[in-house]
Amino acid sequence: MRIPDAAPGARILAFGHYQPAGIVTNDDLAKTMDTNDEWIQSRVGIKERRVAGAEESLEDMATQAGGKALAASGLPADEIDLVIVATCTLETQIPNAAAIVAHRLGISSPGAFDVNAACAGFCYALATASAAVRGGAARNVLVIGAEKLSQWVDWTDRSTAVIFADGAGAAVVGPSDVPRIGPVVWGSSGDKSDAIIIDERDTFLRQEGQTVFRWATTTLHPVAKEACERAGVDPADLSAFVPHQANLRIIEAIARKVGAPDAVIARDIVTAGNTSAASVPMALSRMIERGEVRSGGLALLLGFGAGLTYAGQVIEIP
Ligand code: UT7
Repeated sequence: MRIPDAAPGARILAFGHYQPAGIVTNDDLAKTMDTNDEWIQSRVGIKERRVAGAEESLEDMATQAGGKALAASGLPADEIDLVIVATCTLETQIPNAAAIVAHRLGISSPGAFDVNAACAGFCYALATASAAVRGGAARNVLVIGAEKLSQWVDWTDRSTAVIFADGAGAAVVGPSDVPRIGPVVWGSSGDKSDAIIIDERDTFLRQEGQTVFRWATTTLHPVAKEACERAGVDPADLSAFVPHQANLRIIEAIARKVGAPDAVIARDIVTAGNTSAASVPMALSRMIERGEVRSGGLALLLGFGAGLTYAGQVIEIP
């Protein structure tokens, strides 16, 4: 038996993102439910979010983001051996999104699978892609986080409708002479699996907001710190911290506890809402686009959500 030579490391070559055109403001929501702009901004941090129309599918958004990342990487489609889509909001279980997206992008016969680790999904998929490249299972991997949460939200339930949104973010992962994607720290708390749930086929997402809030603000900063430690990176040397965009108060609480004084903190939630598995790659892709972070800087990623699941790693910004 033989195994292929492993690459010494993996890196992200490029990011891409896509947001649907439809903007929903807090005032728009206040017209149909008992909420208001002041409550949403002060409790969650969202000013507006993007929501896809009925004609735009999760696969459409994933294809847009994946196509942008692929174009920015400069790689031809035939050098992608594996496509992974992180999502928890497909409309149907079969087929998976990854094979459809790969086909639409002209990537012929790659490995293609979806990952469901909810809002932590992109960080799980990135770790899997990095391992596949380092282990010789794929030359390059297209990793996409894509969600159409709007189709799983009850638009009369103010506890979820004001939070969740749609979008997609993507990254191309390839080999590197030195590690540029650090070791993942991942885990789960299945004892809290009821905290964010879609009970049955014909029901909507509901969450015990305060349970998740407490868990996120008290148990995740050690995960973030461990991801730095395992990568041999001092948080003081981080140039960006990109946690899942769940709630601005959660983002700021974790950032304070991690203590990365020079890091730009992703606050994409303000205009993008909570897009679950799409939020981390979309936030970083938008920060790169706005020129807020420099190529070669180190970014700490941290995904967390339903399961409950979490995963984090340090990466070098392409
Ligand atoms: O991405 C997946 C991971 N999910 C998360 O990380 C979510 C974590 N949890 C949260 O972000 C927060 O718990 C929420 C944003 C979901 C809720 O914020 P909160 O500060 O925990 O509010 P609450 O549920 O304690 O509600 C406070 C008050 C209540 O009224 P009373 O009982 O104090 O009179 C609610 O009825 O705010 C009321 N309320 C609202 N008012 C206006 C709840 N939702 C709304 C609303 N608009 N949309």
